[in-house]
Amino acid sequence: MPIKLSPGVSEREPDTRRLAAESLAEGDATGWFEKLYAEAAAGTAEVPWDVPAPSRHLAAWAQHRDLDGHGRRALVVGCGLGRDAEFLAGLGFAVTAFDISATAVRTARQRHPGSAVSYVVADLLDPPAAWRGGYDLVLESNNVQALPADVRARAIANVGPLVAPGGTLLVLAAAATGSPDGPPWPLSRAEIDAFGRGTPGGAALQTVSVEHIADGGETLVARWRAEFRAAG
Ligand SMILES: C[S@@+](CC[C@H](N)C(=O)[O-])C[C@H]1O[C@@H](n2cnc3c(N)ncnc32)[C@H](O)[C@@H]1O
Repeated sequence: MPIKLSPGVSEREPDTRRLAAESLAEGDATGWFEKLYAEAAAGTAEVPWDVPAPSRHLAAWAQHRDLDGHGRRALVVGCGLGRDAEFLAGLGFAVTAFDISATAVRTARQRHPGSAVSYVVADLLDPPAAWRGGYDLVLESNNVQALPADVRARAIANVGPLVAPGGTLLVLAAAATGSPDGPPWPLSRAEIDAFGRGTPGGAALQTVSVEHIADGGETLVARWRAEFRAAG
């Protein structure tokens, strides 16, 4: 799916948009992530989401619930360089964090020596069957918004089934951006609701809350924060 390039809304976005445009023009929805991380490792590009602090929308959500992860398992989807995985490990969760980019996973391990987080390479579009129903908390933050339209429904459907019975799914995603071009491409309310539906024939998750947050952050005009709970 070719996309138009336009001036980035931040100085760091041109690398992202250039590589995404190249991959998408070749019909490859996800290849640009590895290219971006590899260029960044070589010092020729910057990863726009490479910030040390965890997502403030995750941190606020966790603080509000006085979240205690001891004795519980968490899965971080599209973990990037590990900022949110390390945050959840700090709350006591036994964290598995995965990313499609081998360079991102390697860099995350190097950045957090001695970390208790298990960083692994895996693809949300084809997650390991053994992970199904395996996690008390699943975090999907900022990933589906970076995927083009033709694979988004599949990516969304693959998230809910990873939640253990009685477990929680937290989704953080762009609701609106300052640019007509992407990535990121904002998620619609219908796409957020679809996280609760699970796979066709699979168990649905209960919607706990869907927040539309007007202060989305540096480059986002607005953001979704949605919480779902699996039966059990
Ligand atoms: C916009 S970044 C966000 C990274 C991280 N969640 C954060 O907020 O810092 C999207 C991440 O999702 C990863 N990703 C994209 N498609 C994926 C897939 N199909 N499976 C696993 N990870 C994927 C990318 O490599 C990238 O690290």
